[in-house]
Amino acid sequence: MTAQSPLTIPMEIRPARMRFRKEIWERTHGWRSDVDATVEQIARLLDVKDLEGIRKAVEVGKPDKTYGYLNDPRAFFQVLLATKGVRQQDAVSAYHQTRDTLVQGEVMIANQITISDIKADIGSIGGHIKPGISVVEAVRKYVEQEGVNTGLLRSFFVSSTGDDISILMTHQRGKLDETIHQLAWNAFLVGTEVARLEGHYGAGQDLLVDAPAGNVKGAGPAVAELEFVERSAEPFVSFGADKTNPGAFSLPVYLLSDPMYNSGLILADNMKPGYTYRILDLTHKGEDKAIYLNTPEDLYDLALLVRDTDNFVIESVFLKTTGEQFVAVSATRLHDIAGKYTGKDDPRMLVRCQGQFPATGEVLHPFALGHLVAGFMRGSHNGPLMPVKLNGTISWFDGPPIVTAAAFSVKNGILTEPADAFDQPFWDAVRHEVSQKAQWIRRQGFFGAAMLPWNELEYSAGPVKKMKALQSRFKFERDGEPVAVGAGSQKD
Ligand code: F6R
Ligand code: MG
Ligand code: MG
Repeated sequence: MTAQSPLTIPMEIRPARMRFRKEIWERTHGWRSDVDATVEQIARLLDVKDLEGIRKAVEVGKPDKTYGYLNDPRAFFQVLLATKGVRQQDAVSAYHQTRDTLVQGEVMIANQITISDIKADIGSIGGHIKPGISVVEAVRKYVEQEGVNTGLLRSFFVSSTGDDISILMTHQRGKLDETIHQLAWNAFLVGTEVARLEGHYGAGQDLLVDAPAGNVKGAGPAVAELEFVERSAEPFVSFGADKTNPGAFSLPVYLLSDPMYNSGLILADNMKPGYTYRILDLTHKGEDKAIYLNTPEDLYDLALLVRDTDNFVIESVFLKTTGEQFVAVSATRLHDIAGKYTGKDDPRMLVRCQGQFPATGEVLHPFALGHLVAGFMRGSHNGPLMPVKLNGTISWFDGPPIVTAAAFSVKNGILTEPADAFDQPFWDAVRHEVSQKAQWIRRQGFFGAAMLPWNELEYSAGPVKKMKALQSRFKFERDGEPVAVGAGSQKD
């Protein structure tokens, strides 16, 4: 006979599906600073009479009062349950139920975490090729000192994609948090100083304002953020692309709704319901102009929008069933922010994988296409996107456009080391094919589809001026004879 757990959690307070709720965090700030109140609340919620036992459990679990984590949740629950005479094996199974109830009861935030991936081009060596080691190191050191040593961050990872430096951070302060964004901004300022001192090219290029008020969105750096409740094992991929724009990620993300690429849509029951896409209209400046489309039902409409990578960009994707976000793309246009050429809006993307989300391999699959994206030399050409190794650099014709993929697992906000997802022999063959594809289109030089249309040329001032001069030299003629302007002109 198994001893019955005294912690039978009433059905009505058991969360049907545990989801993070921002309001809980805001109201409780994680663990209440008043331990006695916490203990009493736990007792009430779980209907446990033994306050001393709970107090002991809280002590053993070592709650992190600032960030709402139990440093050792398993120990906490084991002691808690042991005080009620629950056997070890029952304690483990009661662990999840209990934890969910405490979260639901607004006593604690269980494993709620934010991943912020913020990138900027703050200068590079030998042209727009790669950031100098000294600069990357300056950024890394600053984030370590001011982020980790102060307890602001739980974990971080600094890497580069072409000439862009990415700071990947885990914390519990939510998306668009001013303190986290300022930390990244200041790290980029410190890196810029080093780049300036050593004469790196384009030092501070993406820091477009003197000091951003609040978060750094719209101030130059690209931002991709996800906020969620950690699963017991939480894999995700941090993508970065250089010499292209955020629209480059739209095809791979669109293809998550295509069973030709995402086999889970037909093979895994929990993936069948599909997704909700948030697409931004980037032609609109100021506040976000967004549309939400569901797949599979709105797939054709989604295709119609995302085919236009310059104007419409997929910014996030959610599970239709729970509303959980699992894709975040930095969807901004530097060109519109600065009002002049500043480089392409080299984007970042975060994708949670496995379980009810697409498998990591399914997320990576579309990158084998080497699809044509806008960017390349002077941000003004079309060219294929090449998957390269982490910290990959730029070369031929300031390209080709590249994408890196660092796959991580995260536990209690602590990142593992990255698995370099494009560092595998399969991708060597893809890189070879993409090189050929890049040469095919480049042989066409400036002509037609090889170069971007007028409004997308990054260096548009010169060509626009020249075009105006040429326009003034066009004359109207009929049968080879000059005619008055507009006379007899026909609509065609
Ligand atoms: C494209 C890019 C490079 C530069 C090019 C000219 O995003 O960064 O292709 O546009 O090398 O650079 P500048 O104008 O800085 O000499
Ligand atoms: Mg650059
Ligand atoms: Mg760049």
